[in-house]
Amino acid sequence: MAILFLLLLLLLLPFSSPALSARCNPQDKKALLQIKKDLKNPYLLASWTPDSDCCEWYCVKCDFTTHRIRSLSLANDGVSFQIPPAIGDLPYLDTLDLHKLPNLTGPIHPAIAKLTRLVFLGISWTSVSGPVPDFLPRLTNLESLYLPFNKLSGYIPPSLSQLHNLNEIDLSRNKLTGPIPYTFGYFKNSPSLYLSRNQLSGKIPASLGKLNSSSIDLSGNKLQGDASMLFGPNKLGLHMLDLSRNLLEFDLSKVNVPESMTWLDLNHNRIYGRLPVGLKALQLQKLDVSYNLLCGPIPAGGSLQKMGKDSYMHNKCLCGSPLPLCK
Ligand SMILES: *[C@@H]1O[C@H](CO)[C@@H](O)[C@H](O)[C@H]1NC(C)=O
Ligand SMILES: *[C@@H]1O[C@H](CO)[C@@H](O)[C@H](O)[C@H]1NC(C)=O
Repeated sequence: MAILFLLLLLLLLPFSSPALSARCNPQDKKALLQIKKDLKNPYLLASWTPDSDCCEWYCVKCDFTTHRIRSLSLANDGVSFQIPPAIGDLPYLDTLDLHKLPNLTGPIHPAIAKLTRLVFLGISWTSVSGPVPDFLPRLTNLESLYLPFNKLSGYIPPSLSQLHNLNEIDLSRNKLTGPIPYTFGYFKNSPSLYLSRNQLSGKIPASLGKLNSSSIDLSGNKLQGDASMLFGPNKLGLHMLDLSRNLLEFDLSKVNVPESMTWLDLNHNRIYGRLPVGLKALQLQKLDVSYNLLCGPIPAGGSLQKMGKDSYMHNKCLCGSPLPLCK
């Protein structure tokens, strides 16, 4: 009889009321409902109701075994809010993604420092302002720090290089000023570095020559002087290097381009010398050296002639196909 009852219970369990089968952790549910309240009950979170299982709600994911909330992603909504402090009360989050929320304002809230399990922190295409906070190095599990297209200002904290698990850091399209910290040469993992379209100034620290990153984009800043340390035959991880639209000034003849490079954009700088012959050995998808002070022949062969004239125009005296013949 007891066995029969158990069987019946097992059969009925999947259909029983949410309250009975709820897997959601009560503390996580409480934090999420507080977040909803702080956001003034937006339509985006209509599925977040007290009588339902929070593992079933939109914009969140539960861990399969612990049933703790491990991911929160709010995206594509015009709702006006600031980062609610209750976000810090979801201790099992490994992914926090706030994306395309134009009316998300205010700073990156310090409550985020409590989320030490975070692997991905994304705040992008928002109106979040204030500094890149210096508490971020406490998030020691971070693999991706993705903060492009916001209104962040101030200096880049040198302590970010303590994030030993990072494989990507994207601070592009903000209003950051000051230099690139020299500590960025000491990242353990050589993360891809995207710092484009800020107002970064000064010299590129020589220590960055230690990086073996796959992508480096420093374009659209006010960086000066030498960038030759970013090249070198031993940097076989490097695929993409974009230094365009800066104030860089160095002799390109002296650089050794790594064989792995497929994308090289140096347009609008003050780079002089000749194009290195090694360029023609590369499988280039993109090459742009226009608007510099380069001189001498474009090496014949490889993919160099397949690039249009636009890739080479407005230099001091570059010549040869696809530009007019050298005199
Ligand atoms: C976003 O903010 C702007 C400017 O404050 C406002 O005009 C607009 O209505 C807001 N959008 C929504 C959906 O609240
Ligand atoms: C750089 O990275 C590439 C690819 O990840 C690797 O094959 C190469 O050994 C690395 N070079 C150095 C000097 O660490």
